[in-house]
Amino acid sequence: MFKKLLGFFSSSIAIDLGTANTLVYMHGKGIILNEPSMVALAVDKSGMGGRKILAVGQEAKVMLGKTPGQIEVVRPMKDGVIADFNVTEQMIKYFIKKVSSQKVLMSVPPTIVICVPCGSTQVERRAIKDAALAAGARRVELIEEAMAAAIGAGLPVESPRASMVVDIGGGTTEVGVISLGGLVYANSIRVAGDRLDEVISNHIRARHGLLIGEATAEEIKKQIGSAHSGTDNGEMEIRGRSVYDGLPKKISITSSEIREALHDALDQMVSAVKQALELTPPELAADMIDSGIVLTGGGALLRGLDILFTETTQLKVTVAEEPLLCVAKGCGMALDHLSDQRVYLNRNK
Ligand SMILES: Nc1ncnc2c1ncn2[C@@H]1O[C@H](COP(=O)(O)OP(=O)(O)O)[C@@H](O)[C@H]1O
Ligand SMILES: [Mg+2]
Repeated sequence: MFKKLLGFFSSSIAIDLGTANTLVYMHGKGIILNEPSMVALAVDKSGMGGRKILAVGQEAKVMLGKTPGQIEVVRPMKDGVIADFNVTEQMIKYFIKKVSSQKVLMSVPPTIVICVPCGSTQVERRAIKDAALAAGARRVELIEEAMAAAIGAGLPVESPRASMVVDIGGGTTEVGVISLGGLVYANSIRVAGDRLDEVISNHIRARHGLLIGEATAEEIKKQIGSAHSGTDNGEMEIRGRSVYDGLPKKISITSSEIREALHDALDQMVSAVKQALELTPPELAADMIDSGIVLTGGGALLRGLDILFTETTQLKVTVAEEPLLCVAKGCGMALDHLSDQRVYLNRNK
């Protein structure tokens, strides 16, 4: 009986519903799913507006940019919040089903902790919760993304000494100041990894007359993108379609021109951090001199971003270990301590 109960509890999950990637953590097992937050839809062109889900996650990503007219690959959370509720709901249900045990009679996890971006509205939070309930969960708790990131990065969130986390995802950059287990300050801006990709493809089109896809722009960012001249990473050959004659063409681009192109977008991230420092109560802001700032999320992997932040804030800035996993780990820890550390959770939403 005890074993059965334990098995039941251990199927509880935590979900990092990111704009770029969705990760699922299972109690006792760790991270068991890590897939792009993407959905491939068959679009009904008959004017009925019908859409059928063809693939979700990794399977949908491989179709990106290569689909025939009637298939569309969408990122339902693209702008940091739910851009397309129906598709988001289907995606959540799909991932929950995918990790649910087939053997247990009641296969849907009874308890689910899901993280939500700080900037999401009450309606959006309710919608995320409802989607998980509709998938069969008995209990759903929400946790703010910045709080999850801080827990996952190993920050002393319970301590009265404040710490700052900056989570740079695909759609949003979340800035949070945490003290005594709560978020003292939270802000979310819609400038993050996707914006950097956009800026890169605009630059390549304007400067070199070459059209490139989203995937190429992201590849450029990862390979030669950098936020600081001290982390220059040479050159790269890219392929695309010429805007002049429409023919495929390859060119060589440099790390320094990409850095220049990224400047304004990165400056907006820096401003969000400076604003957080300005709006945090003085005693807590003073704590940051010792505790510094920790960067999480995939965007934290941009070369030299920590140096740029260090130079602009004069604080000690570090990149968390496995930045792409921090939020999922943090959600998971909140799940594991559901009974004793309720303070993390976003109870009134
Ligand atoms: N090595 C890298 N350099 C720069 N950006 C990266 C790197 N690896 C991943 N990213 C970016 O991180 C973002 C995804 O991060 P993630 O934390 O998973 O986002 P989200 O939480 O919104 O799903 C994407 O914009 C991706 O391009
Ligand atoms: Mg995230």
